[in-house]
Amino acid sequence: MGTLQNDLLLRVLKGEQTERVPVWMMRQAGRYLPEYMAIREKYSFFERCQTPELAAAITLQPIDIVGTDAAILFSDILVVPQAMGLEVQLIENRGPVLPDPILTENDLKRIHVPDVQESLGYVFDAIKLIKEQLNGRVPLIGFAGAPWTLLCYMVEGKGSKTFDKAKAFCYTQPALANTVLQMITDTTIAYLQAQVKAGADVIQIFDSWGGLLSKADFETWSLKYIRQIVVALKDLVPTIIFAKGAWQSLAEMRDTGAAGLGLDWCIEPSVVRQFAGKDIVLQGNFDPAKLLAPIPVIQQEVHTMLEAFGGHHHIANLGHGILPNVPVAHAKAFVDAVKNWKPNN
Ligand code: CP3
Repeated sequence: MGTLQNDLLLRVLKGEQTERVPVWMMRQAGRYLPEYMAIREKYSFFERCQTPELAAAITLQPIDIVGTDAAILFSDILVVPQAMGLEVQLIENRGPVLPDPILTENDLKRIHVPDVQESLGYVFDAIKLIKEQLNGRVPLIGFAGAPWTLLCYMVEGKGSKTFDKAKAFCYTQPALANTVLQMITDTTIAYLQAQVKAGADVIQIFDSWGGLLSKADFETWSLKYIRQIVVALKDLVPTIIFAKGAWQSLAEMRDTGAAGLGLDWCIEPSVVRQFAGKDIVLQGNFDPAKLLAPIPVIQQEVHTMLEAFGGHHHIANLGHGILPNVPVAHAKAFVDAVKNWKPNN
Protein backbone atom coordinates (compact mmCIF):
# COMPACT_ATOMS: atom_id res chain seq x y z
CA MET A 1 0.00 0.00 0.00
CA GLY A 2 2.95 2.26 0.68
CA THR A 3 3.75 2.37 -3.01
CA LEU A 4 0.40 3.86 -4.07
CA GLN A 5 0.75 7.28 -5.69
CA ASN A 6 -2.94 8.08 -5.20
CA ASP A 7 -4.27 6.59 -1.97
CA LEU A 8 -7.12 9.10 -1.43
CA LEU A 9 -9.77 6.36 -1.51
CA LEU A 10 -7.94 4.27 1.09
CA ARG A 11 -7.35 7.23 3.38
CA VAL A 12 -11.01 8.22 3.26
CA LEU A 13 -12.02 4.62 4.03
CA LYS A 14 -9.70 4.68 7.05
CA GLY A 15 -11.68 7.65 8.36
CA GLU A 16 -9.06 10.29 7.53
CA GLN A 17 -9.83 13.81 6.31
CA THR A 18 -8.34 14.30 2.86
CA GLU A 19 -7.41 17.28 0.71
CA ARG A 20 -10.17 16.41 -1.75
CA VAL A 21 -12.96 13.90 -2.30
CA PRO A 22 -11.97 10.76 -4.26
CA VAL A 23 -14.11 9.78 -7.24
CA TRP A 24 -14.87 6.65 -9.27
CA MET A 25 -17.96 5.44 -11.14
CA MET A 26 -19.84 2.19 -10.89
CA ARG A 27 -19.59 0.36 -14.26
CA GLN A 28 -16.81 2.76 -15.22
CA ALA A 29 -15.37 0.07 -17.50
CA GLY A 30 -18.22 -0.33 -19.92
CA ARG A 31 -20.17 0.44 -23.04
CA TYR A 32 -19.95 4.25 -22.94
CA LEU A 33 -16.24 3.90 -23.82
CA PRO A 34 -15.45 3.40 -27.55
CA GLU A 35 -12.28 1.58 -26.45
CA TYR A 36 -14.45 -0.95 -24.57
CA MET A 37 -16.75 -1.36 -27.58
CA ALA A 38 -13.72 -2.14 -29.76
CA ILE A 39 -12.76 -5.07 -27.49
CA ARG A 40 -16.44 -6.08 -27.19
CA GLU A 41 -16.67 -6.52 -30.97
CA LYS A 42 -14.02 -9.22 -30.94
CA TYR A 43 -14.73 -11.22 -27.79
CA SER A 44 -17.83 -12.48 -25.96
CA PHE A 45 -18.64 -11.13 -22.50
CA PHE A 46 -17.30 -14.14 -20.63
CA GLU A 47 -14.21 -14.29 -22.86
CA ARG A 48 -13.54 -10.72 -21.76
CA CYS A 49 -13.99 -11.70 -18.11
CA GLN A 50 -12.01 -14.94 -18.32
CA THR A 51 -8.98 -13.66 -20.25
CA PRO A 52 -6.77 -11.80 -17.76
CA GLU A 53 -5.14 -9.67 -20.48
CA LEU A 54 -8.56 -8.48 -21.72
CA ALA A 55 -9.98 -7.95 -18.22
CA ALA A 56 -6.87 -5.95 -17.31
CA ALA A 57 -6.99 -3.82 -20.46
CA ILE A 58 -10.69 -3.02 -19.84
CA THR A 59 -10.13 -2.29 -16.14
CA LEU A 60 -7.43 0.25 -16.99
CA GLN A 61 -9.41 2.07 -19.70
CA PRO A 62 -11.31 4.47 -17.40
CA ILE A 63 -8.13 5.24 -15.43
CA ASP A 64 -6.40 6.38 -18.61
CA ILE A 65 -9.43 7.97 -20.28
CA VAL A 66 -11.52 9.60 -17.52
CA GLY A 67 -9.00 9.68 -14.68
CA THR A 68 -10.89 8.12 -11.77
CA ASP A 69 -9.19 7.76 -8.37
CA ALA A 70 -9.73 3.99 -8.28
CA ALA A 71 -9.89 1.08 -10.67
CA ILE A 72 -12.60 -1.56 -10.35
CA LEU A 73 -11.92 -5.06 -11.58
CA PHE A 74 -13.67 -5.84 -14.87
CA SER A 75 -15.77 -8.93 -14.18
CA ASP A 76 -19.38 -9.60 -13.22
CA ILE A 77 -21.27 -10.67 -10.12
CA LEU A 78 -22.66 -13.64 -12.08
CA VAL A 79 -19.29 -15.42 -12.32
CA VAL A 80 -20.06 -16.77 -8.83
CA PRO A 81 -23.28 -18.66 -9.76
CA GLN A 82 -21.37 -19.84 -12.84
CA ALA A 83 -18.54 -21.19 -10.66
CA MET A 84 -21.16 -22.89 -8.46
CA GLY A 85 -22.34 -24.89 -11.48
CA LEU A 86 -25.11 -22.85 -13.14
CA GLU A 87 -25.10 -21.84 -16.76
CA VAL A 88 -25.12 -18.05 -17.22
CA GLN A 89 -25.69 -16.41 -20.59
CA LEU A 90 -25.46 -12.73 -21.41
CA ILE A 91 -27.90 -11.93 -24.16
CA GLU A 92 -27.69 -8.66 -26.09
CA ASN A 93 -30.51 -6.27 -25.09
CA ARG A 94 -31.93 -8.78 -22.61
CA GLY A 95 -29.26 -8.95 -19.93
CA PRO A 96 -28.33 -12.08 -18.01
CA VAL A 97 -30.21 -15.36 -18.48
CA LEU A 98 -29.78 -18.48 -16.35
CA PRO A 99 -31.67 -21.14 -18.33
CA ASP A 100 -31.85 -23.70 -15.49
CA PRO A 101 -32.71 -21.77 -12.32
CA ILE A 102 -32.85 -23.19 -8.80
CA LEU A 103 -36.48 -23.97 -7.92
CA THR A 104 -36.61 -27.11 -5.77
CA GLU A 105 -34.54 -29.15 -3.34
CA ASN A 106 -33.63 -31.42 -6.25
CA ASP A 107 -31.83 -28.52 -7.96
CA LEU A 108 -29.28 -28.43 -5.12
CA LYS A 109 -27.63 -31.36 -6.91
CA ARG A 110 -26.63 -28.96 -9.68
CA ILE A 111 -24.77 -26.49 -7.48
CA HIS A 112 -21.79 -26.77 -5.17
CA VAL A 113 -19.36 -24.62 -3.19
CA PRO A 114 -16.42 -24.63 -5.61
CA ASP A 115 -12.68 -24.51 -5.06
CA VAL A 116 -12.31 -20.87 -6.08
CA GLN A 117 -8.71 -21.27 -7.22
CA GLU A 118 -9.88 -23.86 -9.71
CA SER A 119 -13.06 -22.21 -10.96
CA LEU A 120 -12.27 -18.49 -10.55
CA GLY A 121 -8.49 -18.52 -10.85
CA TYR A 122 -8.77 -16.33 -13.95
CA VAL A 123 -10.06 -13.49 -11.75
CA PHE A 124 -7.05 -13.67 -9.45
CA ASP A 125 -4.72 -13.79 -12.45
CA ALA A 126 -6.48 -10.69 -13.83
CA ILE A 127 -6.06 -8.89 -10.49
CA LYS A 128 -2.33 -9.64 -10.41
CA LEU A 129 -1.94 -8.35 -13.96
CA ILE A 130 -4.02 -5.22 -13.24
CA LYS A 131 -1.90 -4.44 -10.19
CA GLU A 132 1.25 -4.76 -12.27
CA GLN A 133 -0.14 -2.52 -14.99
CA LEU A 134 -1.57 0.05 -12.59
CA ASN A 135 1.90 0.25 -11.12
CA GLY A 136 0.62 2.03 -8.01
CA ARG A 137 -1.30 4.77 -9.83
CA VAL A 138 -4.59 4.16 -8.00
CA PRO A 139 -6.03 1.45 -5.71
CA LEU A 140 -7.96 -1.51 -7.12
CA ILE A 141 -11.49 -2.34 -6.00
CA GLY A 142 -12.49 -6.01 -6.07
CA PHE A 143 -16.14 -7.00 -5.76
CA ALA A 144 -18.85 -9.60 -5.52
CA GLY A 145 -22.63 -9.63 -5.56
CA ALA A 146 -24.45 -9.89 -2.25
CA PRO A 147 -25.87 -13.39 -1.72
CA TRP A 148 -29.45 -12.05 -1.91
CA THR A 149 -28.87 -10.37 -5.30
CA LEU A 150 -27.20 -13.52 -6.64
CA LEU A 151 -30.09 -15.65 -5.34
CA CYS A 152 -32.47 -13.34 -7.22
CA TYR A 153 -30.81 -14.27 -10.53
CA MET A 154 -30.26 -17.94 -9.58
CA VAL A 155 -33.98 -18.44 -8.86
CA GLU A 156 -35.65 -15.99 -11.23
CA GLY A 157 -33.32 -17.00 -14.09
CA LYS A 158 -33.25 -13.46 -15.48
CA GLY A 159 -33.64 -9.81 -14.54
CA SER A 160 -36.95 -8.63 -13.10
CA LYS A 161 -38.49 -5.46 -11.66
CA THR A 162 -39.92 -7.26 -8.63
CA PHE A 163 -38.02 -10.57 -8.37
CA ASP A 164 -41.26 -12.03 -7.07
CA LYS A 165 -40.23 -15.61 -7.97
CA ALA A 166 -37.09 -15.22 -5.88
CA LYS A 167 -39.14 -13.77 -3.02
CA ALA A 168 -41.72 -16.56 -3.30
CA PHE A 169 -38.85 -19.07 -3.16
CA CYS A 170 -37.73 -17.57 0.18
CA TYR A 171 -41.22 -17.25 1.61
CA THR A 172 -42.38 -20.76 0.64
CA GLN A 173 -39.13 -22.76 1.02
CA PRO A 174 -37.17 -20.85 3.68
CA ALA A 175 -34.89 -23.73 4.67
CA LEU A 176 -33.91 -24.35 1.06
CA ALA A 177 -33.40 -20.62 0.49
CA ASN A 178 -31.12 -20.43 3.53
CA THR A 179 -29.12 -23.41 2.29
CA VAL A 180 -28.55 -21.78 -1.10
CA LEU A 181 -27.76 -18.37 0.46
CA GLN A 182 -25.21 -19.99 2.77
CA MET A 183 -23.58 -21.81 -0.15
CA ILE A 184 -23.32 -18.51 -2.03
CA THR A 185 -21.90 -16.85 1.09
CA ASP A 186 -19.26 -19.54 1.64
CA THR A 187 -18.21 -19.30 -2.01
CA THR A 188 -18.13 -15.49 -1.86
CA ILE A 189 -16.00 -15.39 1.29
CA ALA A 190 -13.35 -17.66 -0.27
CA TYR A 191 -13.62 -15.72 -3.54
CA LEU A 192 -13.15 -12.29 -1.95
CA GLN A 193 -10.36 -13.42 0.37
CA ALA A 194 -8.54 -14.70 -2.71
CA GLN A 195 -9.19 -11.39 -4.53
CA VAL A 196 -7.51 -9.59 -1.62
CA LYS A 197 -4.61 -12.05 -1.63
CA ALA A 198 -4.15 -11.39 -5.34
CA GLY A 199 -4.02 -7.62 -4.70
CA ALA A 200 -7.47 -6.02 -4.34
CA ASP A 201 -7.17 -3.02 -1.99
CA VAL A 202 -10.88 -2.53 -1.26
CA ILE A 203 -13.94 -4.76 -1.68
CA GLN A 204 -17.40 -3.61 -2.71
CA ILE A 205 -20.46 -5.80 -2.20
CA PHE A 206 -23.23 -5.09 -4.71
CA ASP A 207 -26.73 -5.75 -3.38
CA SER A 208 -28.61 -4.29 -6.32
CA TRP A 209 -31.92 -5.78 -5.18
CA GLY A 210 -31.64 -5.22 -1.40
CA GLY A 211 -34.11 -2.34 -1.74
CA LEU A 212 -36.88 -4.78 -2.69
CA LEU A 213 -37.04 -6.15 0.85
CA SER A 214 -38.71 -4.83 4.00
CA LYS A 215 -36.42 -4.05 6.89
CA ALA A 216 -37.10 -7.39 8.60
CA ASP A 217 -36.74 -9.33 5.36
CA PHE A 218 -33.54 -7.50 4.47
CA GLU A 219 -32.08 -8.74 7.76
CA THR A 220 -33.28 -12.32 7.16
CA TRP A 221 -32.49 -12.73 3.46
CA SER A 222 -29.66 -10.31 2.85
CA LEU A 223 -27.85 -8.67 5.72
CA LYS A 224 -27.36 -11.89 7.69
CA TYR A 225 -25.16 -13.12 4.83
CA ILE A 226 -23.50 -9.79 3.97
CA ARG A 227 -22.47 -9.53 7.63
CA GLN A 228 -20.60 -12.84 7.42
CA ILE A 229 -18.71 -11.56 4.38
CA VAL A 230 -17.80 -8.22 5.98
CA VAL A 231 -16.60 -9.99 9.14
CA ALA A 232 -14.50 -12.41 7.08
CA LEU A 233 -12.74 -9.47 5.38
CA LYS A 234 -12.52 -7.23 8.44
CA ASP A 235 -8.81 -7.67 9.12
CA LEU A 236 -7.84 -7.65 5.45
CA VAL A 237 -9.25 -4.63 3.59
CA PRO A 238 -12.05 -2.03 3.92
CA THR A 239 -15.45 -3.11 2.59
CA ILE A 240 -18.11 -0.94 0.97
CA ILE A 241 -21.71 -2.18 0.95
CA PHE A 242 -23.85 -0.86 -1.91
CA ALA A 243 -27.39 -2.05 -1.25
CA LYS A 244 -29.40 -0.02 -3.70
CA GLY A 245 -32.52 1.54 -2.20
CA ALA A 246 -32.07 -0.25 1.15
CA TRP A 247 -32.21 2.91 3.27
CA GLN A 248 -34.34 1.14 5.85
CA SER A 249 -31.23 -0.71 6.97
CA LEU A 250 -28.42 1.85 6.81
CA ALA A 251 -27.70 1.73 10.54
CA GLU A 252 -27.66 -2.06 10.52
CA MET A 253 -25.31 -2.09 7.52
CA ARG A 254 -23.00 0.32 9.34
CA ASP A 255 -23.04 -2.00 12.36
CA THR A 256 -21.58 -4.86 10.29
CA GLY A 257 -18.23 -3.07 10.49
CA ALA A 258 -18.23 -2.05 6.82
CA ALA A 259 -16.02 0.97 6.13
CA GLY A 260 -18.42 2.57 3.67
CA LEU A 261 -22.02 2.56 2.47
CA GLY A 262 -23.07 3.21 -1.12
CA LEU A 263 -26.16 5.33 -1.77
CA ASP A 264 -28.44 5.86 -4.72
CA TRP A 265 -29.60 9.35 -5.75
CA CYS A 266 -33.03 9.24 -4.16
CA ILE A 267 -31.83 9.86 -0.62
CA GLU A 268 -30.16 13.01 0.74
CA PRO A 269 -26.89 12.83 2.65
CA SER A 270 -28.38 14.76 5.61
CA VAL A 271 -31.09 12.14 6.01
CA VAL A 272 -28.56 9.32 5.74
CA ARG A 273 -26.44 10.95 8.43
CA GLN A 274 -29.46 10.84 10.76
CA PHE A 275 -29.70 7.08 10.29
CA ALA A 276 -26.08 6.13 9.90
CA GLY A 277 -24.23 8.69 12.04
CA LYS A 278 -21.51 11.18 11.15
CA ASP A 279 -18.47 8.90 10.92
CA ILE A 280 -19.30 6.19 8.40
CA VAL A 281 -17.98 6.88 4.91
CA LEU A 282 -20.76 7.47 2.37
CA GLN A 283 -20.36 6.78 -1.34
CA GLY A 284 -22.49 8.21 -4.10
CA ASN A 285 -24.89 9.41 -5.21
CA PHE A 286 -25.19 11.27 -8.52
CA ASP A 287 -28.14 10.26 -10.69
CA PRO A 288 -26.47 8.38 -13.58
CA ALA A 289 -29.03 9.83 -16.03
CA LYS A 290 -27.93 13.33 -15.05
CA LEU A 291 -24.70 12.67 -16.94
CA LEU A 292 -26.86 13.17 -20.03
CA ALA A 293 -27.37 16.83 -19.05
CA PRO A 294 -25.20 19.59 -20.59
CA ILE A 295 -21.71 19.77 -19.05
CA PRO A 296 -22.30 23.08 -17.15
CA VAL A 297 -25.35 21.49 -15.50
CA ILE A 298 -23.27 18.44 -14.54
CA GLN A 299 -20.60 20.68 -13.02
CA GLN A 300 -23.10 22.65 -11.01
CA GLU A 301 -25.01 19.60 -9.80
CA VAL A 302 -21.80 17.82 -8.81
CA HIS A 303 -20.83 20.76 -6.65
CA THR A 304 -24.28 20.82 -5.07
CA MET A 305 -23.88 17.11 -4.29
CA LEU A 306 -20.39 17.56 -2.83
CA GLU A 307 -21.56 20.38 -0.60
CA ALA A 308 -24.45 18.29 0.65
CA PHE A 309 -22.01 15.53 1.67
CA GLY A 310 -19.77 18.11 3.32
CA GLY A 311 -16.39 17.20 1.82
CA HIS A 312 -15.28 14.53 4.27
CA HIS A 313 -16.11 10.86 4.84
CA HIS A 314 -17.36 10.88 1.28
CA ILE A 315 -16.42 9.07 -1.93
CA ALA A 316 -18.02 10.64 -4.98
CA ASN A 317 -19.72 8.16 -7.29
CA LEU A 318 -22.89 7.66 -9.26
CA GLY A 319 -25.95 6.26 -7.51
CA HIS A 320 -25.86 3.23 -9.85
CA GLY A 321 -23.92 2.16 -12.94
CA ILE A 322 -23.04 4.60 -15.72
CA LEU A 323 -25.41 4.34 -18.68
CA PRO A 324 -24.08 3.21 -22.09
CA ASN A 325 -25.36 6.38 -23.83
CA VAL A 326 -23.36 8.84 -21.71
CA PRO A 327 -20.81 10.80 -23.78
CA VAL A 328 -17.25 10.22 -22.56
CA ALA A 329 -16.78 14.00 -22.24
CA HIS A 330 -19.67 14.07 -19.74
CA ALA A 331 -18.18 11.24 -17.69
CA LYS A 332 -14.91 13.14 -17.64
CA ALA A 333 -16.71 16.35 -16.68
CA PHE A 334 -18.20 14.52 -13.70
CA VAL A 335 -14.79 13.26 -12.56
CA ASP A 336 -13.11 16.63 -13.12
CA ALA A 337 -15.88 18.54 -11.32
CA VAL A 338 -15.19 16.41 -8.23
CA LYS A 339 -11.43 16.85 -8.55
CA ASN A 340 -11.76 20.64 -8.90
CA TRP A 341 -13.86 21.10 -5.76
CA LYS A 342 -12.26 21.57 -2.36
CA PRO A 343 -13.90 21.18 1.04
CA ASN A 344 -14.01 24.36 3.14
CA ASN A 345 -12.31 22.78 6.12
O1 CP3 B 1 -18.15 -1.39 -12.36
C1 CP3 B 1 -17.38 -1.87 -13.22
O2 CP3 B 1 -16.94 -1.23 -14.20
C2 CP3 B 1 -16.88 -3.29 -13.00
C3 CP3 B 1 -17.52 -4.31 -13.75
C4 CP3 B 1 -18.94 -4.75 -13.40
C5 CP3 B 1 -19.81 -5.27 -14.39
N1 CP3 B 1 -20.95 -5.71 -13.76
C6 CP3 B 1 -19.51 -5.36 -15.82
C7 CP3 B 1 -20.62 -5.57 -16.76
C8 CP3 B 1 -19.61 -4.83 -12.18
C9 CP3 B 1 -19.16 -4.35 -10.80
C10 CP3 B 1 -20.87 -5.45 -12.42
C11 CP3 B 1 -21.83 -5.74 -11.36
C12 CP3 B 1 -23.16 -6.28 -11.70
N2 CP3 B 1 -23.49 -7.15 -12.69
C13 CP3 B 1 -24.32 -6.03 -10.93
C14 CP3 B 1 -24.37 -5.19 -9.68
C15 CP3 B 1 -24.39 -3.75 -9.96
C16 CP3 B 1 -25.62 -3.26 -10.62
O3 CP3 B 1 -25.48 -2.76 -11.76
O4 CP3 B 1 -26.70 -3.31 -10.03
C17 CP3 B 1 -25.38 -6.73 -11.52
C18 CP3 B 1 -26.80 -6.75 -11.05
C19 CP3 B 1 -24.84 -7.45 -12.63
C20 CP3 B 1 -25.54 -8.39 -13.54
C21 CP3 B 1 -25.47 -7.90 -14.92
N3 CP3 B 1 -24.35 -7.98 -15.73
C22 CP3 B 1 -26.50 -7.29 -15.66
C23 CP3 B 1 -27.88 -7.00 -15.14
C24 CP3 B 1 -25.97 -7.03 -16.93
C25 CP3 B 1 -26.72 -6.53 -18.13
C26 CP3 B 1 -27.15 -5.15 -17.99
C27 CP3 B 1 -26.19 -4.27 -18.70
O5 CP3 B 1 -25.77 -3.26 -18.13
O6 CP3 B 1 -25.89 -4.62 -19.84
C28 CP3 B 1 -24.61 -7.41 -16.93
C29 CP3 B 1 -23.63 -7.24 -18.03
C30 CP3 B 1 -22.44 -6.39 -17.76
N4 CP3 B 1 -21.65 -6.46 -16.66
C31 CP3 B 1 -21.89 -5.43 -18.64
C32 CP3 B 1 -20.75 -4.92 -18.03
C33 CP3 B 1 -19.77 -3.90 -18.58
C34 CP3 B 1 -22.41 -5.08 -20.02
C35 CP3 B 1 -21.88 -6.11 -20.92
C36 CP3 B 1 -21.84 -5.67 -22.34
O7 CP3 B 1 -22.86 -5.77 -23.00
O8 CP3 B 1 -20.74 -5.27 -22.77
